[in-house]
Amino acid sequence: MRTLTQELGFDLHWQMPNGERFALVGLLRELQPTLSLEIGTYQGGSLQVLARFSEAVISVDIDPGVPARLANKFPNVEFRSGDSKRLLPDLVRELNEQKRAVDFVLIDGDHSAAGVRRDIEVLLELQPQRQMVFILHDSWGISPFVHQVELDFIPGIYHYETYDTAEARSMWGGFACAVLLPEKRTGGLVIRESQIGLYQAVKRDSRHRFDGIDRLKRRMLRVLRRIVKRV
Ligand SMILES: C[S@@+](CC[C@H](N)C(=O)[O-])C[C@H]1O[C@@H](n2cnc3c(N)ncnc32)[C@H](O)[C@@H]1O
Repeated sequence: MRTLTQELGFDLHWQMPNGERFALVGLLRELQPTLSLEIGTYQGGSLQVLARFSEAVISVDIDPGVPARLANKFPNVEFRSGDSKRLLPDLVRELNEQKRAVDFVLIDGDHSAAGVRRDIEVLLELQPQRQMVFILHDSWGISPFVHQVELDFIPGIYHYETYDTAEARSMWGGFACAVLLPEKRTGGLVIRESQIGLYQAVKRDSRHRFDGIDRLKRRMLRVLRRIVKRV
């Protein structure tokens, strides 16, 4: 059976659940970006929406096979292949030098905490020419041009069973949203996390329940070794 998003003409495999799909379609239909930037093309799921509602898109993925698979489907998309760690600093410099306005950014590439942080930090170097909307997963760095942040703009989901690339009992998805403006923020930045209770309740029953425990174990081992040396 075709899903509702497939009926809207979005046929490519899309690694996002319904809430995120409709949020992305609604946002982009409203924003009508001149230029959008995507980190994490995969099989073109989110790109098919970005390409439909933006005049132009730059999509970055570490997988060199992406352009061969997707280029003929998207005449308004420029594909860049390589690690975002390596590509993004030059891309940001290029866009700033050209004073090219980026209206919409989707960060969905390297999902390690360090990778997400690095992508965000580099992309926050983009000089806003007008309002920019960032949609992303995971943690956040601070720029004076960031005016609003909501980590649970669209809350994430829980895969009880294995699904696509997700393991059973894992937590994925969710959109955080940040709005940047050309003028600097006055005053502190409030980072909203409106669904923290939902996140914590689901985490208790997930495979992430003991994340962080290894660090604790290593510290205890160090302490124990010191005690053993002394006796
Ligand atoms: C979760 S998928 C993207 C899903 C896609 N946005 C969608 O909606 O269906 C993540 C993608 O990021 C790419 N990726 C992972 N690490 C990366 C990195 N360091 N630089 C660039 N792309 C990366 C992977 O190759 C993969 O295609």
